[in-house]
Amino acid sequence: MNDLEKIVTPLLDWYHVNARILPWRKNKDPYRVWVSEIMLQQTRVEAVIPYYERFMQNFPDIQALAQGDEELLLKLWEGLGYYSRAKNLQKSAQIICREYQGKFPVDYQTILTLPGIGEYTAGAISSIAFEKPVPAVDGNVLRVITRITEDGRDIQDAKLKSQITQELREIYPKTQCGDFTQSLMELGAMVCVPNGAPKCEACPLNALCGAYKNHAQMLYPVKKKKGERKIEKKTVLILYHEDAVALNRREGTGLLSGMWEFPNLDGEKSVKEIKEYLGERGILVKKTKKMPEKKHIFSHVEWHMKCFEVWCDSVSEDNGYTWVTAEQLEKEVALPTAFKKILPNKP
Ligand code: ADE
Ligand code: SF4
Repeated sequence: MNDLEKIVTPLLDWYHVNARILPWRKNKDPYRVWVSEIMLQQTRVEAVIPYYERFMQNFPDIQALAQGDEELLLKLWEGLGYYSRAKNLQKSAQIICREYQGKFPVDYQTILTLPGIGEYTAGAISSIAFEKPVPAVDGNVLRVITRITEDGRDIQDAKLKSQITQELREIYPKTQCGDFTQSLMELGAMVCVPNGAPKCEACPLNALCGAYKNHAQMLYPVKKKKGERKIEKKTVLILYHEDAVALNRREGTGLLSGMWEFPNLDGEKSVKEIKEYLGERGILVKKTKKMPEKKHIFSHVEWHMKCFEVWCDSVSEDNGYTWVTAEQLEKEVALPTAFKKILPNKP
């Protein structure tokens, strides 16, 4: 057993007094629990209630859903989003009718095989409908538990979820498994809330909560930012002279060093600035044409490229660029993708 075990009794006591009266809590019919959990995955409780009532009026049981009109099903789902979830509900209902004599399977592993049912939903159904000691861990439960235990690991890490699931599995009560699952959800929804400060004064677990004790509630759960990318703006030039295009060899030791590139300047430059820049290299510009802007994403940097085609009138001997034909460019030059995507007529 782990320290978390102490939360069970106060949480159940609190739930018995404070549980909201919700339509899917009327009884433990696995069908009703299942449908509610699927709807609640994408929408808040208050918004789900009218959808849920209408759904149950039209499809009161597994058989009705299995044989139901798909148009009606999708209509009833309109506004809930993710129609695939509705279709999976019906597909699963048909499987249950065909393979399990129309009775919702009791075994956790069997429940998991149904389309649209993952570990969370299977855990919720097993505990709420069948009173089995199986946790249902979603973002709300992770928030509550990481605050209580001051667990600073990244909640996007799948390992954290599986470990918290295991710790909860060890402390599930012998009876009232469904109430325990729902008490964690209820606490996450009503007290240990996600946006803004949790209502710790009203929390039945505050005496056991590490984050509360250390005034660190807002530090959990920890969600590591994906390394944010720096944005670099560039102006890239496709220079044409006679039947050739200008390339430059990238210098230094940085990104794409030693690779070929189209001539480019840092920042967003105007046509006037481009002409001045090329003028310094002995290149006289005849005509310019703006091309679509392009973006290229490297792991830590994003290039936002303003692009121009530039037709040159005259080009000095020592302009510094390597001039290649269109055919050479296509067949002989390894041009990095960032630049390839600028080529006219390339997506
Ligand atoms: N969110 C997900 N499942 C829930 C349930 N059974 N009751 C309230 N909120 C929930
Ligand atoms: Fe959440 Fe506060 Fe309760 Fe801790 S004391 S579980 S932070 S509401």
